[in-house]
Amino acid sequence: MNDHLQDLLANNRQWAETTKQREPGFFTRLAQQQSPRYMWIGCADSRVPANEITGLDPGEVFVHRNVANVVVHSDLNALSTIQFAVEHIKVKHIIVVGHYGCAGVRAAMRGIRVGLADNWLRHVQDVRLRHRRRLDHLPPDQQEDILCEMNVIEQVGNVALSTVLQDAWARGQAVSVHGWVYGLSDGLLKDLKVSMDRPESVVNVFGEAIKRYPRGPAAVSADFADDENDDISLGSPGAGSP
Ligand code: CO
Repeated sequence: MNDHLQDLLANNRQWAETTKQREPGFFTRLAQQQSPRYMWIGCADSRVPANEITGLDPGEVFVHRNVANVVVHSDLNALSTIQFAVEHIKVKHIIVVGHYGCAGVRAAMRGIRVGLADNWLRHVQDVRLRHRRRLDHLPPDQQEDILCEMNVIEQVGNVALSTVLQDAWARGQAVSVHGWVYGLSDGLLKDLKVSMDRPESVVNVFGEAIKRYPRGPAAVSADFADDENDDISLGSPGAGSP
């Protein structure tokens, strides 16, 4: 094992000791059970660690991370994690957290091929395609920031429309879904104000959130339908196109 890994293990022993001294019984209590109020769905990027950013200790946030914080309806990994969080841990809040400067979102925006992940990032490209009238007229750096935000809003919608959340709400369980975006350059989280806490709120909250991003001039191409509402309802990318 190289020196750096030894450093990590030494850091760990130090941390465990300090934590025990600060709060006797901390590990004994956590070993019994976890009961976090929050679930975090974020990007795998090493610069966006859920606990540190929010000042939460171990045991306080249930975390799922993947490239570009995407929630796909057929992803059993994400869905299983969400189901466990909602039905067993009974978290009160699920927060989808994107971040500006996300390499996955940038690749999707610019059409950069990165390998196997292209297929995963196709979901972010779908978001871009769906809202192209709200993105294409912006300068390139703004396009990436706005796509980071739109991707979060779309994923919040996906979580809310999942069978897990729909079933939880049908049972009367109090659990809400939120969307935040994190700034790598200032360390601050921004609330995208797209919180959903019941089935009736999903479509309206989503539509209102997307409408905050103004459309550019009408596209010359008639390849896609260009109805004012064609990208503010939840559905498949390009919905409404011929
Ligand atoms: Co990222």
